[in-house]
Amino acid sequence: MIIALAGKGGVGKSSISSQLILQLSKKGLVLAVDADPNTNLPDKLGIPVEVTIGEIRNRTVRDPDKIPGGMSKHEYVALEVRRAMHEHDNIDLLVMGRPEGEGCYCFMNNVLKECFGDMIKKYRFTVIDNEAGMEHLSRKILPRADVMLFVSDPTRIGIRTASRLSSVASEVGMEIGRRILVINNLPGELPQELSDEAKANGFDEVAVIKHDLLVYSAGLEGSALRLPDGSELSKGVSGILKMII
Ligand SMILES: Nc1ncnc2c1ncn2[C@@H]1O[C@H](COP(=O)(O)OP(=O)(O)OP(=O)(O)O)[C@@H](O)[C@H]1O
Ligand SMILES: [Mg+2]
Repeated sequence: MIIALAGKGGVGKSSISSQLILQLSKKGLVLAVDADPNTNLPDKLGIPVEVTIGEIRNRTVRDPDKIPGGMSKHEYVALEVRRAMHEHDNIDLLVMGRPEGEGCYCFMNNVLKECFGDMIKKYRFTVIDNEAGMEHLSRKILPRADVMLFVSDPTRIGIRTASRLSSVASEVGMEIGRRILVINNLPGELPQELSDEAKANGFDEVAVIKHDLLVYSAGLEGSALRLPDGSELSKGVSGILKMII
């Protein structure tokens, strides 16, 4: 099952991704993909990162002669991608890293797309933490999601933005099974205004996560986000998992 997260900047995509990954890793092997060039999922998970996909991509485009003789570009990239996998308990973390440099990337992106396609099949769960906005999705390296979580702050305008992102995802040709609106950082119960706004924007499924003081403290410490089961973010995320698996 492929779960992707989208939303405008700072709404909680990476925090929610990290808890989804940790909770899912108790059920099976998880491929965690940090698709934000401003990499911060590894910090939230507490998994140190050495190599990014962006580095492999740039290196291979810049210097194709590095590919050992007798090896196809596809084989080489597949091998490098496996080497860029950071394994930790039941979590395999891949970090996309910085975007493309100069040069022609079409071939390389096609190879990566094939590699990911092959790889994802081996995992029970894949969680993709996207950067704010949707532009990069048009590259279609990761073109499909069984569930797309559109994360919003607890405001009407935030929900409208999430809905626009949902339209953009369709426009760039992403195949999406279920679309769920996640209203994060709620100070209390879900007000009627926000559930009306969700409905008016075509979201039939809505999950809520309350403001979590433990997340705030972890942010102050800059530590990995390991939360007790009873914390608001953990409870919200387990609510989402009950909806989808
Ligand atoms: N439920 C919550 N309760 C309290 N604080 C939260 C909650 N969710 C997120 N935060 C805080 O909000 C801030 C932004 O969260 P996060 O980095 O997860 O958002 P993001 O959508 O991934 O941001 P970006 O677009 O920059 O990648 C962080 O400081 C995080 O600790
Ligand atoms: Mg983020």
